Amino acid sequence: MNPLVTVENLSIDYGRQNPVHAVRNVSLTIQEDEFVGLVGESGCGKSTLGFAIARLERPPAQIVSGRIQIAGQDWMTLSPEKMRQARWDTLAVVLQSGMNALNPIMTIGAQFHDVMEQHGKTGRAAIEQRAVEVLDMVQIRPEVLRRYPHELSGGMKQRIAIALSLVLNPKLVIMDEPTTALDMVVQRQILENLKALRRQQPFAMLFISHDLGLVLELADEVVVMYAGEIVERQRSRTMLDQAWHPYTQALIRSLPDPENPKGSYAGIPGSPPDLHTIPNACMYAPRCPLVQEACKSSLPPLESLADVDLRCLVMQEEVPHVVKTST
Ligand SMILES: Nc1ncnc2c1ncn2[C@@H]1O[C@H](COP(=O)(O)OP(=O)(O)OP(=O)(O)O)[C@@H](O)[C@H]1O
Ligand SMILES: [Mg+2]
Repeated sequence: MNPLVTVENLSIDYGRQNPVHAVRNVSLTIQEDEFVGLVGESGCGKSTLGFAIARLERPPAQIVSGRIQIAGQDWMTLSPEKMRQARWDTLAVVLQSGMNALNPIMTIGAQFHDVMEQHGKTGRAAIEQRAVEVLDMVQIRPEVLRRYPHELSGGMKQRIAIALSLVLNPKLVIMDEPTTALDMVVQRQILENLKALRRQQPFAMLFISHDLGLVLELADEVVVMYAGEIVERQRSRTMLDQAWHPYTQALIRSLPDPENPKGSYAGIPGSPPDLHTIPNACMYAPRCPLVQEACKSSLPPLESLADVDLRCLVMQEEVPHVVKTST
């Protein structure tokens, strides 16, 4: 089966003069109904990548190379008209500031009607029924359909934005920290609802988050970015026990201890590199406890090993599987 999403060697810069090379050479596939979590420290390029996959990148961001295919369509050459259509039917995006995406001068109900009517859904009752159904998924009562955004809390608006993104049954939902405005209990509940919902009505999800703990628990696959590159990808089931990249290992060490959630936990020493000049070296080398000379003189490729994709010269020797391919 072809993947739903295929991203090949995607690179994105900010600016033309002295650009920030925010995303470099990213290749990624997402299968139909797969839930992929994308994690990494602030500034590693998660949102830049998520936006570009939806072709919502705006200047100064520009895709400098690479390919994006979604549901068999070349996402790089789609006409603006087709793109507008596809953006709701094929793919929906919930942004970090999703709650601000709601129109302040329309009731919530009118916004559901608008989106559905623009995409050929007719019949007031049917539209309302579908709106109530998706609102229920995020635990919002139908009464809000008569309300305006300013009458609602931030958390409610965020959940409504999630519901709105689901209303046309997209094949792929990209969520960028959609739940940071919500308290932890509500956040977990919504994600669990979404997961349950995906069993009845499958869609693929690219879920962008700082919270590796949450992603490990809920996603099928975890993709870890560091300084604009993918450094590791593996099944969430196996990652907690066996993270290979030293950066992933550091992220896992810095997870709060479930036995002592309020205790202090280790941050990762050092800070991410400047992305104006990319050295011919592993980007993590300056912070890596396992660094060797070779790491400082060549950029390790992302090796696709049996159960993990890994960008690390040192640890790839340790993975007890045959090398299949490299990119
Ligand atoms: N408009 C911009 N102009 C220049 N550089 C930018 C711009 N927006 C983002 N960047 C840079 O691109 C890199 C990636 O940023 P991005 O917002 O994608 O990271 P992120 O992983 O989503 O971070 P966060 O977790 O904080 O949301 C960062 O180094 C950032 O400084
Ligand atoms: Mg971001």
